[in-house]
Amino acid sequence: EKGGYNHFMLKEIYEQPDAILDTFRGRLLINDAVIKLAGVEDNMKKFLAADRIIVVACGTSWHAGLVSEYIFEDLARIPVEVEYASEFRYRNPVITEKDVVIAISQSGETADTLAAIKLAKSRGAFVFGVCNVVGSSIARETDAGAYTHAGPEIGVASTKAFTTQITVLTLMALRLARAKGTISSSEFRHHLIELETIPDKVKEALESDSYVQTIANIYKDATNFLYLGRGFNFPVALEGALKLKEISYIHAEGYPAAEMKHGPIALIDEQMPVVVIATKKGHYEKVVSNIQEIKSRKGKIIGIVTKGDKNVRELADHVIEVPESLECLTPLLTTIPLQLLSYHIAVMLGKNVDQPRNLAKSVTVE
Ligand code: M6R
Repeated sequence: EKGGYNHFMLKEIYEQPDAILDTFRGRLLINDAVIKLAGVEDNMKKFLAADRIIVVACGTSWHAGLVSEYIFEDLARIPVEVEYASEFRYRNPVITEKDVVIAISQSGETADTLAAIKLAKSRGAFVFGVCNVVGSSIARETDAGAYTHAGPEIGVASTKAFTTQITVLTLMALRLARAKGTISSSEFRHHLIELETIPDKVKEALESDSYVQTIANIYKDATNFLYLGRGFNFPVALEGALKLKEISYIHAEGYPAAEMKHGPIALIDEQMPVVVIATKKGHYEKVVSNIQEIKSRKGKIIGIVTKGDKNVRELADHVIEVPESLECLTPLLTTIPLQLLSYHIAVMLGKNVDQPRNLAKSVTVE
């Protein structure tokens, strides 16, 4: 059942190239230069009339929502707010009929997300679901939606659900961008071509596995980790930290790299491993200067870099390479080594990777 892998989590990490292909199927039509998403097509008027998009979700799905904020705003120029479902539902939020709410949930059963959907619907918003489990409560409760088609995710730590959520949200953003005319047809086509290469690039990113294992062995006894990223990769830093906390029980924090100097920099000493996502493009020089700040305080730097990078390699203690891509697509690649790092550390510490303590696969209580 684990297909030769020791844990479901590792199996699911390795399933990502195929899972993303499944997410594309029938939707990314490269020869026609078209994206087809029935739930979006059928409700195009509502999307085009939307003043803003509000994303509601929890945990890893919330992180996918944060990535989508950068993508929707950049490509489709629609303002996006990303809300923890649990906060949104109890805040008396301002919701109008001109809002489109996107609820993201792997299980489709998360109680807080479900309650947030009901609230948004009662205030007249159009609610779109991005779920993995077909026929789940959230899939049924939403007005329309798009499934991620990641296949069953058994490991409590979400992996392939995250990357396929980002894939669906990227397809949506591109489709809306085209409909709104916020990107040209040649830019659109270029994005489709780049998107199509992602499954192979994820495969390539998975080749870092044995080197990630070496790094895991060096830092497995650390009691704290910091994860930093900027722009599209800021939410990936949050997700990397969540993965580590969840399955290895090591305290970890994710931060936007530039926020470090407003507090967390005080934590940095020679005991502190800092994972920095520093891919080319995307504020690269700024991240390099953040790395210098860490280095001068003797923090240990694990850089996630674009293949062939030289600058970060000179400064960092370790670098893990991912293939080059469009900036907005890099989260699909930079996430991979972070998943592997948390997995290997947890295994080395003898933790129950697939069923970490105190956690359930779906949180059906509030
Ligand atoms: O099923 P959902 O996507 O609604 O679940 C949301 C969170 O409970 C979930 O992502 C949780 O944070 C994961 N265990 C993270 O790996």
